[in-house]
Amino acid sequence: MASIIQLKDVTVTVRPNNGHRITILKNVSFDIDRSEIVAVMGPSGSGKSTLLHAMSGLIPSEGDIELDGIKVNKLSRTQAAAWRLKNVGFVFQAFYLQSYLTVIQNIITPGSFASIPKQDVMQRAMGLLERLGMSDKAERYPDELSGGEMQRVAIARAMVCTPMYVFADEPTGNLDATNAAHIIDSLLEMRKLYGATIIIVTHSPSVASRCDRVVYMKDGAIYE
Ligand SMILES: Nc1ncnc2c1ncn2[C@@H]1O[C@H](COP(=O)(O)OP(=O)(O)OP(=O)(O)O)[C@@H](O)[C@H]1O
Ligand SMILES: [Mg+2]
Repeated sequence: MASIIQLKDVTVTVRPNNGHRITILKNVSFDIDRSEIVAVMGPSGSGKSTLLHAMSGLIPSEGDIELDGIKVNKLSRTQAAAWRLKNVGFVFQAFYLQSYLTVIQNIITPGSFASIPKQDVMQRAMGLLERLGMSDKAERYPDELSGGEMQRVAIARAMVCTPMYVFADEPTGNLDATNAAHIIDSLLEMRKLYGATIIIVTHSPSVASRCDRVVYMKDGAIYE
C-alpha cells in the first residue's frame, strides 16, 4: 500500500532573537500509510510538537513533507492555511480556544470557514459534545471549564470538519482514564467512518497501545 504521508530528511531550525541557529528536528524520515494510527512518544523537548507543526505546514521546514501528493512545506502561507482548513484537524497541546466564544461557537468556527452548511456543522458539533460528555456545557465560555473539558472542546473542534488527517498533540494529557478512553474511541471512529489518518503525540502507554504503531523521538530525531 502506498504511503499517504512521506517525510524525507525533514529538518527544522530556528534562530531565537536572531542569535545562534538551533536545530530542533534533524533529518527526520518516515512514512505513514493511509488510515494508519500512529503514536509519537519521547521525552519532553524531543521535538514531538515541532514534528506535528511541520507536518501541517504551520512552521517552515527543509526536506520533503508530502501528504497525499501535496508538498506541504512548499506551499505559501495562504495556500497552507486553505489546505489545512480542508484536510487537517489539529489538537494543540495548549488548546488555543477563543476565550470570547462559547464552547459550541469554538467548535463550529472551522466549519463556517470551510463553507460547510451551518446546520450540518451544528449537528456534528452537538453529536461530538454528546459523545465527549459535554452536552450540558455548550453555552459555557472556556474560562468556565476545567482543563480536561477545554481539551475535549479542542478535540471536538478538530473533528468537526471530518478531516483526512488528525494531528493530536497530547490529546489526553489532562484527562482521567475514562475520558481518555472516550477520546481515543472517537479518534478511532474517524478512521472507521471515513478512513482518517491519525497521529497522536502521547506520554501514555495505554493510549500508545491502542495505536497501530509507535514512533519514538529523541533529540529531534526518530528512532523506531
Ligand atoms: N520557536 C522555538 N524557538 C526556539 N526553540 C524552540 C522553538 N520551538 C521549540 N523549541 C525547542 O525545541 C525543542 C523541541 O520542542 P517541542 O515542543 O517540539 O518538544 P516536545 O517533544 O513536544 O516536548 P513536550 O513533551 O514537553 O511537549 C525544545 O527544546 C524546545 O525548547
Ligand atoms: Mg509538545
